[in-house]
Amino acid sequence: MASASATLLKSSPIINKSEWIKGQNLRQPSVCVIRCHPTSAALTIRASSYADELVKTAKTIASPGRGILAMDESNATCGKRLDSIGLENTEANRQAYRTLLVSAPGLGEYISGAILFEETLYQSTVDGKKMVDVLVEQNIVPGIKVDKGLVPLPGSNNESWCQGLDGLSSRTAAYYQQGARFAKWRTVVSIPNGPSALAVKEAAWGLARYAAISQDSGLVPIVEPEILLDGEHGIDRTFEVAQKVWAEVFFYLAENNVLFEGILLKPSMVTPGAECKEKATPQQVADYTLKLLHRRIPPAVPGIMFLSGGQSEVEATLNLNAMNQSPNPWHVSFSYARALQNTCLKTWGGRPENVKAAQDALLTRAKANSLAQLGKYTGEGESEEAKKGMFVKGYVY
Ligand code: 13P
Repeated sequence: MASASATLLKSSPIINKSEWIKGQNLRQPSVCVIRCHPTSAALTIRASSYADELVKTAKTIASPGRGILAMDESNATCGKRLDSIGLENTEANRQAYRTLLVSAPGLGEYISGAILFEETLYQSTVDGKKMVDVLVEQNIVPGIKVDKGLVPLPGSNNESWCQGLDGLSSRTAAYYQQGARFAKWRTVVSIPNGPSALAVKEAAWGLARYAAISQDSGLVPIVEPEILLDGEHGIDRTFEVAQKVWAEVFFYLAENNVLFEGILLKPSMVTPGAECKEKATPQQVADYTLKLLHRRIPPAVPGIMFLSGGQSEVEATLNLNAMNQSPNPWHVSFSYARALQNTCLKTWGGRPENVKAAQDALLTRAKANSLAQLGKYTGEGESEEAKKGMFVKGYVY
């Protein structure tokens, strides 16, 4: 089948595949549909008509001193957050909290993109403005979580796989219409449970299919194979697994003709397992993580936006800062949920009179991480709350 396709491509009177790929690399605008049909059986190859826009969006998000606010908790996860401050998980409470986040004054100075859950993409603020419009006014690019969550992976060692490919292209097209310009798909890899070759392959293939589909709808895909913090393993084991995972992810991204200039990555930092007795310093985390990135990530990728994964707010900022002490081939930044929101959520506590203080808490974290992106964070004056770890064993996002 593959060689038959190659023959068809070769004999195409219109354009051959290598010219098409070359055109895509050069970011030429929109070869939309290429038909190769020396016989009546047509083979159609589609290149993203959004190539230029994808590159631009990715660069905007990966701009100096800025990173991503992940506020895409599913309704179930958002419920856990609200429960921790004694609030009921109602649409009105979720709307109140998310209004507080998106309308924090001046947030766009430090935040270039915000990942939303589907409900928020279509939701208005408590004052009746579209959440998406508030973000755009703040110079923040709206994004959307498109995966449908994790389920057990049959045939594996109690590992999971990520659902959501069925019907994805209709959803991504609708999300683009609604104002989203980037997407997120989070799958996980567990070190204590393996990872099995099957789980790694499934994670990588799913990410690559999702990335190709998102680009086809004009959304920059955030590629997120989270290597969970769970486990007693040391940092070398995390490094070994991360190398394997990223090798496989890039193999399948390339196989799916994903435009590397139009993606963003969301890796876990390379750290010891949460239950490992030996802790790592920010310098060690930075050394291991940068070594991994240099070995596995092509410089064509514009941005590496780390997840926080249960680290404390301060730890996540210190580690990011350590990675930005000398220039990197990519923009090395953050896409934190817990490490940006924790103090903010607690400060708010569901009380209208605390909204301003909670927004200030969010801005404090956003600014600290902005400084860390520039390698200029000192760690001075941080609250005790911000130093508390947030690791939860077996955490489900
Ligand atoms: P945390 O920063 O809380 O790990 O969340 C990451 C994430 O995937 C949300 O998009």
